[in-house]
Amino acid sequence: MFNSKITGMGFHVPDQIIHNDDLVEMMDTSDEWIQTRSGIKERRWASEDISTFDLAIEASLNAISRADIKQDEIDMIIVGTLSSDYFFPGVSAQLQDKLGLKTIGAFDIKAACSAFIYSLSIADQFVKTGMANTVLVVGAETQTKLIDKSTKGRDVAVLFGDGAGAAIIQRSNDESQILSTHLHCEGKNIKNLWMEAPGTSPGSWFKNQTYDSKRFTPIMNGREVFRNAVKRFPEVINESLTYNNLSINDVKLIIPHQANYRISQAVAKKMGVDMNIVYSNIHKYGNTTAASIPIALTEALDEGLIKKGEHIILAAFGAGYTWASAAIRW
Ligand code: ACO
Repeated sequence: MFNSKITGMGFHVPDQIIHNDDLVEMMDTSDEWIQTRSGIKERRWASEDISTFDLAIEASLNAISRADIKQDEIDMIIVGTLSSDYFFPGVSAQLQDKLGLKTIGAFDIKAACSAFIYSLSIADQFVKTGMANTVLVVGAETQTKLIDKSTKGRDVAVLFGDGAGAAIIQRSNDESQILSTHLHCEGKNIKNLWMEAPGTSPGSWFKNQTYDSKRFTPIMNGREVFRNAVKRFPEVINESLTYNNLSINDVKLIIPHQANYRISQAVAKKMGVDMNIVYSNIHKYGNTTAASIPIALTEALDEGLIKKGEHIILAAFGAGYTWASAAIRW
């Protein structure tokens, strides 16, 4: 077995900034409601002519350049997304083509907000076993194309933003390592956070051919999501600490999925940690689903918050429910 590490991170967000006051023009909401419930001040929305792939390729090129590798060294692509350009195939196939790579393995992971850590975990196993040398892992979303931007959908609409983040995973010959990853799912909660259609379930839209817009937009039971997130984030963070024989005092930074600032605050309180070790950039980007962790990690690195040899924990919770963590010695 080998060790693996992240050798480069990058991200890309669309230019269009949507402030809370812009949302007031579209639905019955207010800057005050959004900020107090979520900490979000603005988010990016992809315009009609920009797709998830368009963001993913820019983030990938950014990560490739920062990792200082040649594009053709990439021998696997994994993309976490729930807003792929097409129903099938995935964004990973578009990336393989656009990057001009050989016929390497490329696939998408549909694990919602946990998809970046799920994808990172798969990449980690391939590199550790020597089955891959250089894996491109991407989290990319244009979920705001799917949301209901009227007052009916306001509980969800105000939270989400678009963006993409990418990482290059390679073999490590020094102290820098992905130490462990921990993945979980509890499918009994599917309907607390889901988008039903298009789907193939009995009684699906495909069968009945009647368009019901409610089924084509993400639906959330906000209170249940909040309650479960505040339970699962600390559990899975503690799981990575225990597994690696670390204490929270050994951790320089926790980078949680940017779900909602209030969720991060509640998690920090429950764990008894100060908010200054819990990274947040949700005020600028909103919740970008699978993209939020790689965007946050890239910004934390750019801000000089993580030095070589320091421990960080990535943690996510999202639809499924899925939840996950990764312990990394940078
Ligand atoms: N603007 C104004 N009012 C709104 C909005 C909005 N955007 N959205 C909902 N409301 C209204 C509701 O209609 C409701 O009104 P009513 O009382 O007249 O029926 C009222 O606000 C509910 O507000 P609260 O009293 O704060 O309700 P609650 O305590 O249930 O909180 C909230 C709702 C904010 C959604 C909360 O459940 C929450 O923060 N959940 C977390 C959800 C989340 O952040 N998910 C992240 C995305 S999923 C993920 O990444 C894991």
